[in-house]
Amino acid sequence: MKRLSVSNLLGIKYLQPEDLHLIFETATHFKEVINRPIKKVPSLRDITIANLFFEDSTRTKLSFELAEKRLSADVINFSVSQSSVSKGETLVDTVKNIIAMKVDMVVLRHPNSGAAHFLSKYVDSCIINAGDGTHEHPSQALLDAYSLYEKFGDLSGKRIAIVGDILHSRVALSNIYALKMMGAEVKLCAPKSLLPKLIESLGVTISFDLMEVLNWCDAVNMLRVQNERMELSYFPSTREYSQKFGLNIERMNQLRKKIVILHPGPINRGVEITSEVADSEQAIILDQVENGVAIRMAIIYLLGSQINIKVT
Ligand code: NCD
Repeated sequence: MKRLSVSNLLGIKYLQPEDLHLIFETATHFKEVINRPIKKVPSLRDITIANLFFEDSTRTKLSFELAEKRLSADVINFSVSQSSVSKGETLVDTVKNIIAMKVDMVVLRHPNSGAAHFLSKYVDSCIINAGDGTHEHPSQALLDAYSLYEKFGDLSGKRIAIVGDILHSRVALSNIYALKMMGAEVKLCAPKSLLPKLIESLGVTISFDLMEVLNWCDAVNMLRVQNERMELSYFPSTREYSQKFGLNIERMNQLRKKIVILHPGPINRGVEITSEVADSEQAIILDQVENGVAIRMAIIYLLGSQINIKVT
């Protein structure tokens, strides 16, 4: 059986191109499985997975949980508001206690950048990063890249734009790593205040002109303005942001070609994207959600089969 080059999924940065191919190949198999009348396989019947969510989540949490259940793993869920973390327990202590209950794998979402990496140094269990602060969100980037691969085939030379709040987005960084690894060209578009300094060192280009970017790209990933991560005001008003950086039908109609539209969700309709565009045929937002389950099944299956347990 082919193996991943890593034993945790902490970020796309730590993966090799072959890992992405293996994850995609495995996800294609699982996508077929979850479209069957009987969607469940016994592959991870002997493993126990804890979903530890220290931050709100709808799609990612449900998608991981479904993926785990479709693989027949035992699943326990933890969210910070109902835990002893509010009594002052540290992350490492919380996780060590959970692992002492014989948990094989931990899926961690945490508001602090680097939390998954930090945890992997202290606990001897397989860790999957489900989003750490403004750092990485590897499973999202894998499902985005997989959805593009389904649409275009080989991504080498494809032009992909990422528009919106790049500064506070873990989706942006993981997408940049994944898309570059697959040979795509990446252009970022955002107000200057929402772009990290030195981001061009990752091999991406920048534009402040949304129409120029839309005319350039084959696909655009529209990101939400992450208001919950902002202590300051990064642009004059939401209305002004939408006028300069929002995707609407008038802009789409001015293009010389049809482009593919992605969004990781949750959507702020009327801010970064209008309803007309989000619900249009060019948007693959719900395909991304479907692919998310298959991709997460692939990640869990491949990592699960590398730990010292029986996988059928
Ligand atoms: C993203 C996240 O949480 O980083 N959402 C997600 O996982 N589907 C993006 C966002 O919150 O805007």
